[in-house]
Amino acid sequence: MAISPPAPLAGAPLSDRLASTQSSPVRELLQIAMRPEIISLAGGLPAPDTFDVPGLRAAFDEVLAGPDAIRALQYSTTEGDPGLRARLAAFMSTRGLDVAGDDLLITTGSQQALGLIASALLNPGDVVLVEDPTYLAALQAFQLADLQAVPIPCDDHGPDPEGLLELARRHGAKVAYLIPTFQNPTGRTMPAARRAAIADAAAQAGLWLVEDDPYSALRLEGEDAPLLASYAPERTLVIQTLSKVLSPGLRIGYVRAPESLHGPLAVAKQAADLHTSTVNQLAAERWLATHDLGDHIASLAAHYRPRRDALRSGLREHLPAGARMTEPEGGLFIWVELPAGHDAEVILPRALDRGVAFVPGKYFYAGEPRPETLRVSFATATPEELREGAARLGVACRG
Ligand SMILES: Cc1ncc(COP(=O)(O)O)c(C=O)c1O
Repeated sequence: MAISPPAPLAGAPLSDRLASTQSSPVRELLQIAMRPEIISLAGGLPAPDTFDVPGLRAAFDEVLAGPDAIRALQYSTTEGDPGLRARLAAFMSTRGLDVAGDDLLITTGSQQALGLIASALLNPGDVVLVEDPTYLAALQAFQLADLQAVPIPCDDHGPDPEGLLELARRHGAKVAYLIPTFQNPTGRTMPAARRAAIADAAAQAGLWLVEDDPYSALRLEGEDAPLLASYAPERTLVIQTLSKVLSPGLRIGYVRAPESLHGPLAVAKQAADLHTSTVNQLAAERWLATHDLGDHIASLAAHYRPRRDALRSGLREHLPAGARMTEPEGGLFIWVELPAGHDAEVILPRALDRGVAFVPGKYFYAGEPRPETLRVSFATATPEELREGAARLGVACRG
């Protein structure tokens, strides 16, 4: 399912930058996957039944019915609401890093943070080092910023520190973009020793590390890993989001950056959209003030755990002999490597005919794609549907 760049209208040519940026094939696939007869293992959307509709409605009511109503409807500061920043900093500080509200910039989703970091730190043509595979929309943001994404060799524990150092030196790279916990798309988590080694390699290469961390709060079992930033706070930017723990519709992300980058990132944010929605920020602040985020996260884990288990056991039972898959302790994704000779893009139409959708892995590669890989998510289907979806996928793989 190759998506070509948008065709320019006659007399209205597009920028070279946009013409060479691909529309996300996953978005198109998600449209198909929404058909009622299809069990979707394709999406990464959080489960809608976990949204606290009454709680968020009460938070918006409190903001708009109280003395903050005018402030909520007005322009506000670029960095974000101080009350919200303080609450989010306290949350980020639970992972081995001391974060103050002033260290955070509120962004319009964490997706915006990727573009802001690209424009604040990098020039067109620069190299950004990425895991392979990595988050598709990060590749898109980097493409739009005219950057060259160069893949770092990876193993089951994440990027190879020596490979990172060698590539950073070879390309004179300034930034490495990493998703250390429950990575999208692989579900993989970097163990503590690997984090320390990556921090060490980054220090030797003089690299900024960008730690994208939307999924670590969705831990279903095991112990929290310290943030990668806790090993190299002076050179690591951490991006988190309320999208997976509260609601993606709020579009609230936040970046923690070393102090020298506060000003540059704020300038980039100002140029992008002045500031993130004030009313959404104040409602998020009220929700966080009136709810126990830890309890809410525990309820999310209780929701997702049986779904992860159902998909995992269904895949174990139905995937062809010789297939490998990741065994994530959290997040929303499992990564499958079919035996050599399989091509997930060829399997996809057969799978859709049988009523199951997934995402071929090839879309997530900055380097040479591996056609036998695919991503499945347990986010939105029921445990019964997930078991059935795995069975249908197994049949589709067999031809
Ligand atoms: C790794 C990663 N980063 C960033 C995002 C963007 O999230 P948001 O902009 O909703 O915060 C996502 C969403 O799926 C993601 O998987």
